[in-house]
Amino acid sequence: MTPAAAVRVRRAELFDLDDLVALEERTFDSDRLSRTQYRRHLDSDSAKVLVASAGPHRFLGTAVLFFRKHSRVARLYSLATIPEARGQGVGSALLAAADRLARRQRCNALRLEVRVDNPGAIRLYERLGFHRIGRRSGYYEDGADAWRYERLVSGPAAS
Ligand SMILES: CC(C)(COP(=O)(O)OP(=O)(O)OC[C@H]1O[C@@H](n2cnc3c(N)ncnc32)[C@H](O)[C@@H]1OP(=O)(O)O)[C@@H](O)C(=O)NCCC(=O)NCCS
Repeated sequence: MTPAAAVRVRRAELFDLDDLVALEERTFDSDRLSRTQYRRHLDSDSAKVLVASAGPHRFLGTAVLFFRKHSRVARLYSLATIPEARGQGVGSALLAAADRLARRQRCNALRLEVRVDNPGAIRLYERLGFHRIGRRSGYYEDGADAWRYERLVSGPAAS
C-alpha cells in the first residue's frame, strides 16, 4: 500500500521506458502506445509523459498529454496506474499534475476520451470535475465508442 502523500509525479525519463511499455501491455487490449512512440514522446514538444512513483524508483503509473501549437486545449491521451496500486490516489495525483502542466503550457482546458464501457475511469473523471461534452462513435481500434470529457484548467494561465 502506498500512502497518497508518498506519490510523486515527474516527467518520464529514458529509464522509465520498460515500465511504461510493460504497463501499457498489462492495461490496454488495443490502442496501445508502442515503445517507439513512447521514446518519441519523451523528446517531443507536443507530448509530455508524466510518471507517478514512490521514491525515485517504484513506478506506479503514467499520464500522457498532447499539446498543439496555437491551441489552448490540452489532451489527456492516456492515464494508467499499475494494478497493484489502484485506488490509492495515484490516478488523482497524475490528473492534478496534468492540470499544473496544462496551466504551465498556457492551456485553459483539458480534454480526454474514455471508453463508454469503462465505468471506473468515468467515475474518477466525474469526481474530479470533468464534464461530458460528446461521444465519438467507433473511436477505438476495436470499434468501441468514447465519451469525450473536458475540465477547465485551474487558476490563471502563466503569463
Ligand atoms: C482509471 C485509473 C487510472 C484510476 O487510477 P487510480 O490510481 O486507481 O485512481 P485513484 O486511486 O486516484 O482513484 C480511484 C478511482 O478510480 C476508479 N477506479 C477505476 N478502476 C479502479 C480499480 N481497479 N481500483 C480502484 N479504483 C478504481 C474508482 O472510481 C476510484 O474512485 P473512488 O475512490 O471514488 O472509488 C486506473 O484504475 C487504471 O489504470 N485503470 C486502467 C486503465 C484505464 O482505464 N485508464 C483510463 C483510460 S481513459
